[in-house]
Amino acid sequence: MNSIIEEASHASPAFKASMRAQWDTAAEGWNAHTADIHAWLQGPTEAMCRMAGVRSGARVLDVAAGAGDQTLVAAEQVGPQGHVLATDLSPAIVALARGNAQRAGFAHVEARVADGEDLGVAEASFDAAICRLGLMFLPDPLRGLREIRRALRPGGGLCTMVFSRPERNPCLTILMSTALRHAGLPARDPFVAGGLLSLGRPGHLDALFRSAGFDDVATTAIDAVFRLPSVDHYLAFVRDSASPILQILGGLNAAAAEAAWGEMRERLMAFTTSTGWEGPNELLLTAGRCPRETP
Ligand SMILES: C[S@@+](CC[C@H](N)C(=O)[O-])C[C@H]1O[C@@H](n2cnc3c(N)ncnc32)[C@H](O)[C@@H]1O
Repeated sequence: MNSIIEEASHASPAFKASMRAQWDTAAEGWNAHTADIHAWLQGPTEAMCRMAGVRSGARVLDVAAGAGDQTLVAAEQVGPQGHVLATDLSPAIVALARGNAQRAGFAHVEARVADGEDLGVAEASFDAAICRLGLMFLPDPLRGLREIRRALRPGGGLCTMVFSRPERNPCLTILMSTALRHAGLPARDPFVAGGLLSLGRPGHLDALFRSAGFDDVATTAIDAVFRLPSVDHYLAFVRDSASPILQILGGLNAAAAEAAWGEMRERLMAFTTSTGWEGPNELLLTAGRCPRETP
């Protein structure tokens, strides 16, 4: 059976409902792999916060915050005089982000369920905004960028992190193509809105930022090798948390799904090194600034 995501119009409520359900299911798994994700994305996350203008005392909006790993990085940087609002479509993952912030002792972090295309926050109420590996899941990313711009004060900064082109992210390409073939689904255009690699086409996100009204737009490509002890650690991460892949395989019976996982493992073995496993990834950090009010 084709998935709801496959069948739903991207503008339809069914797309969002399916996305929410997928991430509610994957929430515990994503949270359980926080240490690996943190180590993988530490450098790019610090760069994202710097490029957004996250600083001591700032009010920061985190869109599609997941279990809040980058929320806590921003919270550390703004300090107790600042404030970070973590928002996400999935109630289950928001609950985990809230618990993580509480355990870290960050009283200046709030976590709230909100669609990135309709944040429900006051206009011009944030100094900076970040969005790590989330914007590509929005069916209308331009609407999301306009909504973030509305939430930022004049002169406020946004930095987003997304995956770049398919050929620069070969593990994701292997996972996606293998899963689709085993599920009997046709190959997907990776640049269709709402998909994992949908914002990776060079120049596309810069154009969206400008259309949303951001100035000083610039994109930096960063290599982010995912280093793990073995291919099985990577597969465990994917099986626990990679909601787009889990969703494609969701319609298969157990034996057919295992055959797909087996072929993925075989192909991903290509990235085994003498010291472990190193999956290449390339990320795009795109930054822009809201125009300052003219005097
Ligand atoms: C790959 S996870 C990234 C989570 C977190 N930013 C991180 O880097 O650890 C993608 C997140 O996007 C969220 N998401 C998907 N569609 C969304 C939407 N329309 N609005 C807000 N969040 C959304 C999912 O619920 C999920 O938590």
